[in-house]
Amino acid sequence: MACLRCWVEYETAKTIVIRNKVVGSVFRLIQFLIILYVIGYVCVVQKSYQVNDSVISTVTTKVKGTGFTNISGLGAHVWDVADYNIPPEGESSFFVLTNMIITPNQMQSSCPEVHTGIQSQAKNLSFTKYFDLPVFDQLNASGHITLLKGIQTGLCVNYSETVKTCEVLSWCPLEIDTDLPENPLLAGAENFTVLIKNTVTYPKFNFHKRNILPDVNSSYLKQCEFNRITDPHCPIFRLKDMVAEAEEDFQTMATRGGVLGILIDWSCDLDFPEHYCGPKYSFRRMDNKNPENNVAPGYNFRFAKYYKTTDDVETRTLIKAYGIRFDVIVFGTAGKFNIVPTIVNVGAALTFLSLVSPK
Ligand SMILES: *[C@@H]1O[C@H](CO)[C@@H](O)[C@H](O)[C@H]1NC(C)=O
Ligand SMILES: *[C@@H]1O[C@H](CO)[C@@H](O)[C@H](O)[C@H]1NC(C)=O
Ligand SMILES: *[C@@H]1O[C@H](CO)[C@@H](O)[C@H](O)[C@H]1NC(C)=O
Ligand SMILES: *[C@@H]1O[C@H](CO)[C@@H](O)[C@H](O)[C@H]1NC(C)=O
Ligand SMILES: *[C@@H]1O[C@H](CO)[C@@H](O)[C@H](O)[C@H]1NC(C)=O
Ligand SMILES: *[C@@H]1O[C@H](CO)[C@@H](O)[C@H](O)[C@H]1NC(C)=O
Ligand SMILES: *[C@@H]1O[C@H](CO)[C@@H](O)[C@H](O)[C@H]1NC(C)=O
Repeated sequence: MACLRCWVEYETAKTIVIRNKVVGSVFRLIQFLIILYVIGYVCVVQKSYQVNDSVISTVTTKVKGTGFTNISGLGAHVWDVADYNIPPEGESSFFVLTNMIITPNQMQSSCPEVHTGIQSQAKNLSFTKYFDLPVFDQLNASGHITLLKGIQTGLCVNYSETVKTCEVLSWCPLEIDTDLPENPLLAGAENFTVLIKNTVTYPKFNFHKRNILPDVNSSYLKQCEFNRITDPHCPIFRLKDMVAEAEEDFQTMATRGGVLGILIDWSCDLDFPEHYCGPKYSFRRMDNKNPENNVAPGYNFRFAKYYKTTDDVETRTLIKAYGIRFDVIVFGTAGKFNIVPTIVNVGAALTFLSLVSPK
């Protein structure tokens, strides 16, 4: 019987109007804060009425400029883009050679190991064993171990008038890579320029654009150069200016090499007309130059150019190349109004308001 009664009951909350200045103003304040949160944070800061999409992009680069060196022993040498731009494909990451150690005329033969300051303790020649040399740790008595620069023959020969070193089979003469020029050999690289072509897509919004903007004509493109104030839309950058914007000195960075990031930010609000959506460039040094932890600083790698002498002996020129690698990094998010997140977020906001509303 009790259950039948509860079946036919209707429950409702009783509304009490409290006329109290403190309770009333606290209630209004809470309501005001929620409305402020919805308008200020959800709509303006978070733009929660939009859907977002991440950028998809492709980059090609083309470096221009000619350098000149006059190195003793090598003579005068003009460097064009095929010499200093490695790899030459024009990818989003490109390297410009600025300093180098050249070892010409290397052939397969045997020669004494290079004697440098570090090896000065290695003078005990009654036995083919070096001392105080971490790289030679694996050396064993039979002398078949591969060293850093070659295979030991087991003999010790004169390296200079006062020093004997172990003889190795290798590309001889060996490279002496301790005396890196203090100033970059290709100092003129600071005046080289690079044309960066970047095309971006926001697939969700069917939006396509490139960093050569529609209002840039070809006669302008032929002679312009990026400048944040006067030419912010020119896609041609002087290497020195980019390094300077990253608060680095080009010649210092060029001596030991490094990595510079060219950041292109395509973040856009696509509720605004399309021409407001453009690339924003910034530059930053990416490799470590922390003075406390600068073991193995800079950026370098080796490559060789092979040829044959007239008597058919394979010969090469070994180049230890120091330079700046430029990495073009494109990022961005675009947002555009969409009804679904709008309803969801308005709904969430209304729920908040109803929590403090009188029932
Ligand atoms: C959409 O992007 C804007 C900035 O572009 C950001 O503030 C917002 O949080 C993003 N929304 C979502 C749902 O990721
Ligand atoms: C290169 O330097 C040498 C001396 O170091 C000089 O005699 C020669 O004229 C220079 N060559 C050029 C093209 O400047
Ligand atoms: C050289 O090395 C051998 C073997 O380690 C050792 O017996 C000899 O005393 C050393 N000679 C000198 C002069 O240090
Ligand atoms: C030294 O190296 C050779 C070749 O790797 C190896 O055959 C030999 O056993 C090694 N000797 C010792 C004492 O480790
Ligand atoms: C190596 O140097 C020593 C002393 O400087 C000299 O007596 C010897 O003749 C040299 N050996 C060769 C093969 O040049
Ligand atoms: C780069 O160009 C500027 C101006 O054209 C010139 O003053 C400077 O000497 C050049 N730098 C080098 C290293 O040649
Ligand atoms: C190209 O653009 C520049 C400036 O943007 C303008 O001064 C010049 O007249 C234009 N040239 C042509 C052929 O439209």
